[in-house]
Amino acid sequence: DSPAILKYTNNIAYLDKGDIVILTEDGVTFKDENDKVIKKEIDVLDWSPEMAEKEGYDHFMIKEINEQATSVKNTLTQRDNIQKIIDDLDDVSRICFVACGTSYHASLTGKYLLESLAGIPTDVILASEFKYSAKTLDENTLVIFISQSGETADSLKALDVANETSKTLGIVNVAGSSITRRAQYVIQTQAGPEIGVAATKTYVSQLTAIYLFAALMAKDDELLNDLDNVPDFIDEVLEDVESIKAMSQRYNYAKDFFYLGRGYSYPTALEGALKLKEISYIHGEGYAAGELKHGPLALIDEGIPVVVVIPPGDSHKKTMSNLEEVRARGADVLAIGARKDKEQFTHAKDIFLINDDVDG
Ligand code: F6R
Repeated sequence: DSPAILKYTNNIAYLDKGDIVILTEDGVTFKDENDKVIKKEIDVLDWSPEMAEKEGYDHFMIKEINEQATSVKNTLTQRDNIQKIIDDLDDVSRICFVACGTSYHASLTGKYLLESLAGIPTDVILASEFKYSAKTLDENTLVIFISQSGETADSLKALDVANETSKTLGIVNVAGSSITRRAQYVIQTQAGPEIGVAATKTYVSQLTAIYLFAALMAKDDELLNDLDNVPDFIDEVLEDVESIKAMSQRYNYAKDFFYLGRGYSYPTALEGALKLKEISYIHGEGYAAGELKHGPLALIDEGIPVVVVIPPGDSHKKTMSNLEEVRARGADVLAIGARKDKEQFTHAKDIFLINDDVDG
């Protein structure tokens, strides 16, 4: 994980299986598994040591949350590279995303986008399940590996298998990492080093890369233009940090949380629950809002916090009925929706309003 040594050097040599490194005061020698001296290429990582410092913030996660807009802006510069990849990829009749954790949630958004915008059948497989479920890959399948680090073991194993039959593309943040070296095509997200354990700015950068990829595939110029507004929307949300802080205090009694969303808000709900578990050590479950009635509703009770992600668009009306459903059982609803829908959320304990121009 090269950012870990940025403080000392940005000259990086990547080892292959069996390689041996001999470091002395005089320099470095590389040998292969047969003890033969070999020459290694040195990559220069274009990240500075300052990028891996806290720069006045209390901790890395808050610094990285504040770097989201810049990460999105920088990732949008990849448009021409992504177009080149698309031009080179003909005969793709199916796409399959493979990833873990947060990167898996970004992949789910990718499925919704590619199917609805580009009309390409798309699957999403957890990297750790790839071996058991990906049985029908062929040369017309594009397998996309999303990974911040580019070093996740399950993703790497799946990549080696996918390379045997299919076209492979890595959407990766760390330059020179194993996935970037083994995938046939690479889109580099431009989030800079992520030191905090929880994915924040890299998640929004992954989403940016996927939106660019899908919009370019579908030649959707309107969406491409809209993407330029995203950094400002993010900064606008962060201006409310004090009210978000106060809101979080109102839920400090909770031991269990639910997060609900439909359509594009479903992966967002999953990601919200994952962040809560990882960072607060509080149990959280993310659900597709329509699944609630198939079991988990039994757990919704007086005072259970339920975060409902409810933007305008296709899914709004149905999610609204789920909001009412959990409210009727006494849940403490925190609604995240658009400013123009404010009046609809009067039963919520808390409302977090986002820009009206955000749709779907
Ligand atoms: C959550 C988180 C993890 C990673 C997962 C995959 O905040 O960081 O769930 O998303 O371990 O890691 P990468 O993306 O490096 O393959």
